[in-house]
Amino acid sequence: MMIDTHCHILKEDYENQEEVIKKMKDNIIIVSSASPKDIEEIIELIETYDNVYGTIGIHPEFADTYTKEDLIKLEKYLTHPKIVGIGEIGLDYHYENENKENQKDLFIKQVNLANKYHKTIVIHSRDAKEDTYNIIDTYKEKTTKCNMHCYGYDLEMAKKLENKKITLGIGGILTFKKEKTLKEIVKELDLKNFVLETDSPYLTPEPFRGHINEPYNIKYVAEKIAEIKNISYEEVLKATTENAIRQFNLKKDA
Ligand code: NI
Repeated sequence: MMIDTHCHILKEDYENQEEVIKKMKDNIIIVSSASPKDIEEIIELIETYDNVYGTIGIHPEFADTYTKEDLIKLEKYLTHPKIVGIGEIGLDYHYENENKENQKDLFIKQVNLANKYHKTIVIHSRDAKEDTYNIIDTYKEKTTKCNMHCYGYDLEMAKKLENKKITLGIGGILTFKKEKTLKEIVKELDLKNFVLETDSPYLTPEPFRGHINEPYNIKYVAEKIAEIKNISYEEVLKATTENAIRQFNLKKDA
């Protein structure tokens, strides 16, 4: 079994949504919200398909525009048994860094919700390494689990996160020919630190770059990890699946 711990396979990007999900019928998919408007469709998906779980949250992109109603809706659905995390949430200073305070405020609010409802935090962080770490270090309770989705920082930060038992989401970027840092991190750190993700529809792995991504493609990420660590593909799947089950408190018989 394999688990795609992070993707966005919503209807607006997938006319063949059902087919894409059925292709993963022996596996698990965790669908993440990128926008508050995704929440209803995610609830519908997790109630329709046994192998689909969800994480919901308000992305930093909406730090200036989200409403009180969005927060109320988020808190209401967080108690759903198949909502296994809050995310993606975090900080993104890449496109917008004039509103850092608003981004931090929204992030902290949602870290507190994760603590309150015992949900795993799924972080999106870009060009905001120190602020992200400091907020997690300060506000996350020790028992609240945490995953850094689409890990894109350096080895030093990866080790700091390892000390906090925060898992790193590894996706298609690992297969890109020019990518060096992530390969070094995968080689250096123990398998227990990693979970697989596609971030579909984005970041399609080699050899399908240029096409729309889908959860089934985590297979190619797992193959790449096996190659880098010089272990078997089966070993990678087994370990990353166990990590994801632990990380998101999934039921084993799902
Ligand atoms: Ni994403």
